[in-house]
Amino acid sequence: MTLAELLRSECVRLAKWTRSEQQLVCSEVLGLSLTEQILAAEAPIADDTSEQILEIAQRSIAGEPLAYILGVSYFDGLRLTVDSQVLIPRPDTETLVEVASALISDGGIQCVHDLCTGSGAVALAMKARHPHCSVTASDLSEDAVRCAIQNANTLQLGVECKQADLFEGLSKFDLVTANPPYIAYDDPEVDADVVAHEPAMALFAENSGLSVIERILTDALAHLVDGGVLCLEHGHRQAHDVRKLAIDMGWQSVQTYQDLAGRDRVTRMQRP
Ligand SMILES: C[S@@+](CC[C@H](N)C(=O)[O-])C[C@H]1O[C@@H](n2cnc3c(N)ncnc32)[C@H](O)[C@@H]1O
Repeated sequence: MTLAELLRSECVRLAKWTRSEQQLVCSEVLGLSLTEQILAAEAPIADDTSEQILEIAQRSIAGEPLAYILGVSYFDGLRLTVDSQVLIPRPDTETLVEVASALISDGGIQCVHDLCTGSGAVALAMKARHPHCSVTASDLSEDAVRCAIQNANTLQLGVECKQADLFEGLSKFDLVTANPPYIAYDDPEVDADVVAHEPAMALFAENSGLSVIERILTDALAHLVDGGVLCLEHGHRQAHDVRKLAIDMGWQSVQTYQDLAGRDRVTRMQRP
């Protein structure tokens, strides 16, 4: 069987991979670049390789996220190792990196901390974009911290990561980024496969999804320098509530930014 025939087989078609997912599977299993995959399309593939791809397709059909099956996810151009103990980084979260990066480009920011770091996606993207900044990261989950440290080491990006409940034991920073859990427990829109496979502590929060966000808004005031900035990702229907909470607490220059789909996704604010 050739690679092209395998990719046209019923089992692979039922997996409903996008073109880029299909390319990711081939590059991870066969170790081939996109050009090499095109050149190899009509060449026979080994039985054990085709069995491996069919097994991945079957797990995909059963609803397991491809990133967990392959153990890999790409974020802001970085190849990250992920497992089922950490959230799979989402393209929407690149908006958080964009908003925070624009602040660094404006100058004056040296110390950046990423709360709720998961796989380390945001912290590592920030360090890769701004190597002159000191970037640190933290997460409550021991598994997430292990994963973020592994990614930092693999990418040789010099980001220190520690276990902490939000700001517990942390000092002051010029800029804090956070993509906390913000989904309400009774949100009817959450994908069933997401709930079944991704860690609940990375997804859900009390108080209509706002409880961790509210704690961050309160505690960040003591962990930012004067004029320091907090950039927070939230649900696309939470922007109004987040802005109100922030303004009531005395945050200044509160502003919301949209993701690539045009939905409110990140709110930025400044410590007075
Ligand atoms: C939505 S995930 C974000 C992961 C990563 N930043 C990303 O964007 O892919 C939220 C993360 O917050 C962490 N978390 C939940 N409660 C926390 C807390 N009280 N303190 C620190 N981290 C927490 C979870 O373990 C999870 O890794």
